[in-house]
Amino acid sequence: MCGIIGYVGNDNAAKIILDGLKMLQYRGYDSAGIAFHSGQNVEIYKCVGKIEDLEETLGNKGDVFSCGFGHTRWATHGSVRQPNAHPHFFGKVTLVHNGIIENYKDLIDKYDLKDRLQTTCDSEVAAALLDIFYSGDPFEAIRKLLEEIRGTYAFVVMFEDIEDTMYAFRKVSPIVACSHEDERLLASDLMPISLMTDEYFILPEDTVLEMNRKGITLYDADHNEVRPEYRKIDWKADQYDKKGYPFFMEKEISEQPEAIRKTIEHRITDGLPDLSKDGLDEDFVRDIDSIEIIACGTSYHAGLAAKVIFEKYAGIKTNVSLASEFIYSGNIFSKRPLFLSISQSGETIDTIEAVEKAKKAGYPAIGIINVKDSSLSRICDVSLYTDAGPEIAVASTKAYTCQLSLMYLLAFYIGLVKGKVGRDEARSLIRELQKLPEKVQEVIDRKDEFHLLSKRFLDHKDLFLIGRGPDYLALLEGTLKIKEITYIHAEAYASGELKHGPIALIETGMPVIALMTQDELMLKESSNVKETRARGAKVLVIIKESLLPHLGQKVDTILIKDYHDDFILFVAVVILQILAYYIAIDKGLDVDKPRNLAKVVTVE
Ligand code: G6P
Repeated sequence: MCGIIGYVGNDNAAKIILDGLKMLQYRGYDSAGIAFHSGQNVEIYKCVGKIEDLEETLGNKGDVFSCGFGHTRWATHGSVRQPNAHPHFFGKVTLVHNGIIENYKDLIDKYDLKDRLQTTCDSEVAAALLDIFYSGDPFEAIRKLLEEIRGTYAFVVMFEDIEDTMYAFRKVSPIVACSHEDERLLASDLMPISLMTDEYFILPEDTVLEMNRKGITLYDADHNEVRPEYRKIDWKADQYDKKGYPFFMEKEISEQPEAIRKTIEHRITDGLPDLSKDGLDEDFVRDIDSIEIIACGTSYHAGLAAKVIFEKYAGIKTNVSLASEFIYSGNIFSKRPLFLSISQSGETIDTIEAVEKAKKAGYPAIGIINVKDSSLSRICDVSLYTDAGPEIAVASTKAYTCQLSLMYLLAFYIGLVKGKVGRDEARSLIRELQKLPEKVQEVIDRKDEFHLLSKRFLDHKDLFLIGRGPDYLALLEGTLKIKEITYIHAEAYASGELKHGPIALIETGMPVIALMTQDELMLKESSNVKETRARGAKVLVIIKESLLPHLGQKVDTILIKDYHDDFILFVAVVILQILAYYIAIDKGLDVDKPRNLAKVVTVE
């Protein structure tokens, strides 16, 4: 789960690689490294920490090179320590690797490498094998390596005796590349590429790429040249800028009203959903009889919330699966399911593999994706892009609200096509949806109030969040935010389940957040709050204003202005995002780059 970038050209390779690595840091940031070909040999610099630390380690020593590659790591095999950082080298071979070599232990035994390796990383084993197989022909060495290794990988390799040249090959893990005038670039994703040119190609599996000053050439397994399939990028990565906010997360929370507006407004014509510009026509959804949602993390939570809306307004049975579990599921589907994958990055490996499985079985697939031209978008029949803009903070915020608002539109669209909602009802629902930016802005404007209230959680190790129906679904997402960035053990419980076990954990002083936004669930939720208070819990209730008179107990509250029950979940989630953010701030944590996490999970 790492980021890779390689450059050959006339420019300062160190600068281009470091800038690119900063853009790829979302893939992992526990250590980083860089290697240059000096003409005679390969020089390696690496360290534990972020790209800024690597920059410091390198100083201006890299400025003389014009060929090299870099790597930002999220540890899979081997702990976070300097020797385990990439690049790895063995003999004449230096390489960077993204992915996992599943059979690396067998290979250590088979090639008697135990006493010859310096690290416990699977990647070093690949470097060792390449060196063993190398006798002047890089393609032959790579061919032999590929016969031996099992797993998913993207490798970029330099050989000490081949000047200014690098080789790349991959399975599942992505590599994209481009050539522009005298410069060549390859990377794990398009962001660094987009700064150089708008034309790129995806390195096909089963080919080997050779990149040097002369150009980029692809070869198949029989060493026949393969013509790269060039594609166009019609966007340019924004240079990352916190725009005055202390952390990207706060900036991204604040951007939500605008991001939601951008995501929905251009998809509304005459007050009704219009997805024609996305390439979605009525025939695509008319006959579907179920929706299979697949996603991970926050995107999975967006899927859970969307299920309620798909079932209610599109009248379609909807199942939501964690992508990592879907792969092992029984595969019993209705006759004409629609697969709907949700992913901010479009690079989450489990989601990609799950959709590939559905596509192989012949099912149609739509992706709700934030990053254009990402790997997931390339396998979906239709990509509905959220217009959230780049999301940099590891904890996802604006991606969630944009994904969900887009799925509301999709649900109303399918409902209309299938005759489950009339045009008037759809127009009135769309009007409610269009109020979202303003409703979200109202709570963002109250962030100081939430900051004060968040202080009560600072010294606690555990936190319970309780609610029913949509409230529970909002809490699941809120809980994830709290876990990710504050390291407080937070659990969301469906209030009705409390008595089946979790209530045993409640003791005097235990903090609990209860969410109450739904008219019909209010009375039951209120008695659940009483049950926890009776056992000593200290409860903060987040409640819709009109429900307050029915709460029937004196507790601290956060009031949410009245809003349609099917839409108010968005507002609740944003409040929880803000609470989590301030807890992390007051604990002095790195909000944007929490420990052990990465923005994109590219290993299974
Ligand atoms: C990682 C990120 C989460 C994200 C999840 C799914 O765990 O840290 O913020 O929700 O991956 O990512 P995706 O890009 O597929 O939405």
